[in-house]
Amino acid sequence: MARRHHLASGKADLAPCRIAAVGDLHCHAATVERIRGFLAEATAQADLLLLAGDLTENGTPLEAELLASCLGEVPVPVAVVLGNHDWDPLANRANGAQREARRTVAGAAQVLDGRSVLFQSGNRTIGIAGASGCYGDLGEARYVSAFQSRLNGVPYDDFVLGELKKVVAALDEVQLADVRILLLHYAPIEGTVAGEAAHLYPVCGHRAVGSIIDRYRPHLVIHGHCHYGTAFAKSLGGVPVYNVAHQVTGGVSYFWV
Ligand SMILES: [Fe+2]
Ligand SMILES: [Fe+2]
Repeated sequence: MARRHHLASGKADLAPCRIAAVGDLHCHAATVERIRGFLAEATAQADLLLLAGDLTENGTPLEAELLASCLGEVPVPVAVVLGNHDWDPLANRANGAQREARRTVAGAAQVLDGRSVLFQSGNRTIGIAGASGCYGDLGEARYVSAFQSRLNGVPYDDFVLGELKKVVAALDEVQLADVRILLLHYAPIEGTVAGEAAHLYPVCGHRAVGSIIDRYRPHLVIHGHCHYGTAFAKSLGGVPVYNVAHQVTGGVSYFWV
């Protein structure tokens, strides 16, 4: 069951909820002050902050502490998904240090990994479904051969299925929310990948997540990961998808829902 939080904006029931979103902060010692500025800006103009993964550069405990120090200054609720720079469950990098970093981030924000969180804004419920998603199948070729070597014996399709189940589980949890938002790290469609080199499309995302989106039809999908991608596109079924990586948008993105 998703947790429910009341937004402290005190707005009238019909006033829009202002959601700030940004991806790929890649926090480390050299970027932390810029990130502090991003988050202060977001805080000043929003009721809720969403971070679309790659919160840190290498998922180290120190980087997580730096990010958490920034998030500690944010007076609005924060929900995040992790990216490949934060957490890699299949590679040897997903070691104790990354686990410690993940716990540190979880102390400062809602970390969503196949789960959701509900926010009450006036008389409306805003459901944030979150999962990292996965990559391996966008563009002309699947990434199976190179990807397989990192799977530590887990068949590729089993890995993908596990991640897709998380997306479905998170969306199931927000089915009854008035506003349903899916927060991802990887791209679910090619449209917001456009701009990346063609041979990199498979590592940008997975089309099966796009199919899930068209079945569940959330009001809004937000992702990051594609630093050279495109800010906005629609899924085949017409669901709006935003790539909020700040390398693409130039800063924080805002959504009034
Ligand atoms: Fe990134
Ligand atoms: Fe990424």
